[in-house]
Amino acid sequence: MPRRGIFVTFEGGEGAGKSTQLGLLAARLRLHGIGVVETREPNGPIRNLLVQGDRAWTPMAETLLHFAARAEHLADTIVPSLDEGAWVLCDRFADSTMAYQGYAQQLGRPAVEKLYRLVAGRLKPDLTLVLDMPVALGLDRTARRQGNETRYEQMGRKFHDAVHEAFLDIAAREPERCVLIDANRPVETVHEAIWASVENRFKVG
Ligand code: TMP
Repeated sequence: MPRRGIFVTFEGGEGAGKSTQLGLLAARLRLHGIGVVETREPNGPIRNLLVQGDRAWTPMAETLLHFAARAEHLADTIVPSLDEGAWVLCDRFADSTMAYQGYAQQLGRPAVEKLYRLVAGRLKPDLTLVLDMPVALGLDRTARRQGNETRYEQMGRKFHDAVHEAFLDIAAREPERCVLIDANRPVETVHEAIWASVENRFKVG
């Protein structure tokens, strides 16, 4: 069946405002009569293993857990929604695995690329918005949040610097798919920048 929907992913380090921006884009698309599915990764029952506690998984085990969650997510949400013609807006996707596990946890690009092909085949996001925020500011924001999903936040400044550099590299390698957005601006300004790239690319509005 030909895929009819549009797949947009939001990426970036901690505290860059991805969820807020995803919600704003979803609302604006709905105003244009577009069917939107909002989702996030890691998703489902595997999420808690990854985002809570402080277990030191090996980088390979951690990567496989992210891809296991992703395999389920693709099958139960992403692919069916795209087949139905919806826009799927996903808060983090495989670029996060590349940045966090491939680069910062040093599993390497080739292993992550191989697993991606096994799990997702040729499916790729139509657009990836990489929200760029200074590391210290982003970590400061997440530190003020309530909750127990702190496993990655606790990984320290050096780790998050590596994640930040990784996202810049990932965006530079695929300039057709990825748009780097300066997220260190007022929420509305960031939203307008995101809307401009969406409108321009997909002719909505
Ligand atoms: P969130 O806080 O943005 O919901 O994401 C949960 C954490 O999981 C975040 O710190 C980034 C991390 N993560 C990875 O390390 N690899 C991945 O593949 C994904 C999707 C998230």
